[in-house]
Amino acid sequence: MVVAGLRRLEYRGYDSAGVAVLADGGLAAARKAGKLVNLEKELVERPLPGGMVGIGHTRWATHGGPTDANAHPHLDNAGRVAVVHNGIIENFAALREELAGRGHVLRSETDTEVVAHLLAEEFSATGDLAEAMRLVCRRLDGAFTLVAVHADQPETVVGARRNSPLVVGVGEGENFLASDVSAFIAHTRSAIELGQDQVVELTRDGVAVTGFDGAPAVVRAFHVDWDASAAEKGGHDHFMLKEIAEQPKAVADTLLGRIDASGRLTLDEVRIPAEVLREADKIVIVACGTAFHAGLIAKYAIEHWTRIPCEVELASEFRYRDPILGARTLVVAISQSGETMDTLMALRHAREQGAKVLAVCNTNGSTIPRESDAVLYTHAGPEIAVASTKAFLTQLVACYLLALYLGQVRGTKWGDEVRAVVRELARIGEEVERVLETMEPVRTLARSLADKDTILFLGRHVGHPVALEGALKLKELAYMHAEGFAAGELKHGPIALVEEDLPVVVVVPSPKGRSVLHDKIVSNIQEIRARGARTIVIAEEGDETVVPFADHLVRIPATPTLLQPLVATVPLQVFACELATARGNEVDQPRNLAKSVTVE
Ligand code: F6R
Repeated sequence: MVVAGLRRLEYRGYDSAGVAVLADGGLAAARKAGKLVNLEKELVERPLPGGMVGIGHTRWATHGGPTDANAHPHLDNAGRVAVVHNGIIENFAALREELAGRGHVLRSETDTEVVAHLLAEEFSATGDLAEAMRLVCRRLDGAFTLVAVHADQPETVVGARRNSPLVVGVGEGENFLASDVSAFIAHTRSAIELGQDQVVELTRDGVAVTGFDGAPAVVRAFHVDWDASAAEKGGHDHFMLKEIAEQPKAVADTLLGRIDASGRLTLDEVRIPAEVLREADKIVIVACGTAFHAGLIAKYAIEHWTRIPCEVELASEFRYRDPILGARTLVVAISQSGETMDTLMALRHAREQGAKVLAVCNTNGSTIPRESDAVLYTHAGPEIAVASTKAFLTQLVACYLLALYLGQVRGTKWGDEVRAVVRELARIGEEVERVLETMEPVRTLARSLADKDTILFLGRHVGHPVALEGALKLKELAYMHAEGFAAGELKHGPIALVEEDLPVVVVVPSPKGRSVLHDKIVSNIQEIRARGARTIVIAEEGDETVVPFADHLVRIPATPTLLQPLVATVPLQVFACELATARGNEVDQPRNLAKSVTVE
């Protein structure tokens, strides 16, 4: 049961794995470097005794390389305590030294192992694992989720949470603890989310939660509104392919009930008082990776439709540059997982400075929405593949809705252009579907480029972040050198990279009349082609001007300029996925990455 749960969580980190079970009055553990399958083989060759209580972990290395010895669970010297951990214990070096001074022998390079030893000591003193955990947690600095068992209290599992996620699954005569509900969704859809600095004690029939100080804690129970099949591959070779295919539905679900027939926006869940939204004089978007690209696109929509200045900042940089924030700043934190530590730290900093924070998030009950003033959920459903696809499209939709809503609340007078956008947005899922139906030539093209070293991506206006996203997808999946540029910037340096037969993907804005940039990018295509580039042109249906300069032409449906990223990104996702497959790479679990980056 533990290994099955780990399989569903493997996307979070996958460079080693381990389990421990309480059985026959003792504790038995197995740990293996590499993917979960290595651990599964080990368990077949050397089975552990069956027990009623077990814990497990898949690891994404922070302290110490991905070896058997560094894999979790970590045990104390007597082999009576086992602990698994997500996050980073910042004061581990001092604790290690202190433990060594008391005769403990630490066998791994991890920060985690100190916890097993400290728990063993506190358990000897108190005889109670939950109390021991509370005492240990009060000594730890950093971010951590810990789950521990002790052979002398064999009916109990104890968990602790600071910053990294931990959820309780409430079953009948059985209970679960995991960093994500997908681990236990096959057993129960009743869950309890744990808050900051809480310790939970789990038995077969009971769940008791306290703060680190021992005071009983108030927790929130919730029902998971998707089932196990939503987290399965549904006939696709990879989760990523399934998630790409789900985009029309994800987009439609995110729009559902939010635009009425007259084009009015209903975003009741945005529980930030209307006067705060009316008086906001600046919007700052913070996010990482793909979510950051969604933010870059959102800026165009927000500024164009609402005339509120909007900055977009990498969450990992944000708080370190002393940003100017105040009560009239609205910070938008975009995150699929809701657990990205960089984004969480950025939003905490923003709130400390008096700004209001709105989360755009895909994961119900996760930390970022919990710590924000309001949340606008994207309804993409569980995204399992490490490379983000459907979450990105739904982040865009949510940001468009937010921009339109801000305009509505502030009484912005809109002309026909915005009314047309609202109409188009409401049916954009169908256009995404049309793109998906025409992807076979993109797959063929991708396979033909499998031996290339470099691919460049160009775009202008909203096409620029699309180019960045196309390059990011290719880097993380195909492990190729890929870069995205603003096409106008090319002649200021990057054009020196262009040489004979270099593939360059160009995202072309809507044709003349709708985008003033169209002709300029057509000139950019000619400039690179004159220098030998092999041009892969993504252009609207009916745009004939690009035909003479396109070595490969990918058609996308005509949309209002600001909505074009919703259709233009899809071929780039398919392209990267196919190239990764052609190069023999793991599509769902690219090397060195993790789905949920809960360390800074
Ligand atoms: C790329 C990707 C990452 C995430 C980033 C933020 O495909 O998935 O770049 O977008 O780590 O993650 P969230 O949205 O969970 O905060």
